[in-house]
Amino acid sequence: MEITEVLVAIVLGIYLFLPALLPNSAAVLFGGKTPIDFGKTWRGKRILGDGKTWGGLIGGVATGTFFGIILIAISYFFDPVDFWGYGAFPQNVGIVFTLALGSLLGDMCGAFIKRRLGMERGQKAPGLDQYDFVAGAMLLTCLFFPDWFISTYITGTGLISLVTVLILVPVLHRSVNIIGFKMGKKKEPW
Ligand code: CTP
Ligand code: MG
Repeated sequence: MEITEVLVAIVLGIYLFLPALLPNSAAVLFGGKTPIDFGKTWRGKRILGDGKTWGGLIGGVATGTFFGIILIAISYFFDPVDFWGYGAFPQNVGIVFTLALGSLLGDMCGAFIKRRLGMERGQKAPGLDQYDFVAGAMLLTCLFFPDWFISTYITGTGLISLVTVLILVPVLHRSVNIIGFKMGKKKEPW
């Protein structure tokens, strides 16, 4: 394996995962009033809580997908066959959509688990807060586009891309949340 292959795998790992990274930050900006669980409880505790709203879900998925389509459009001019790793059109549009939707579904699963554990909205859950959306994005994408997912994040230099995502996500997550906190958009800096 050559050093350039390793570098490409590192950059591609994050680049191709951008449609999954963006929705979380966008959800903070789009976060509306109506909670996804409509305020309902299950066994005495909120199903998801007030931190998961329809506005955040729809705005977040739309932002991630829209951004992904822009990346696909740009890469078309340079690499009309593989679109810099997103793969052939129109499947690549499906891929950026499942990355964006899966990311926020994973975030909702994380919130569901936090509520079951009796944790309040915004309470810190190390590990879960950083990886729930990564797991959601990867699982949903792997379900609908297994060949793309396996060749991008598992086989060959794919594992390097996967490890890059797993290492960089907590760092990015933390940085973005501190920015959101300073902007007054987020109640906690995590
Ligand atoms: N948000 C939203 N809808 C979503 C996801 C996020 O409106 N589907 C908004 C909410 O305003 C939320 C903020 O983005 O408070 C930050 O998201 P996150 O950190 O995931 O939520 P928390 O407030 O920490 O709540 P939880 O404990 O349920 O994770
Ligand atoms: Mg949180």
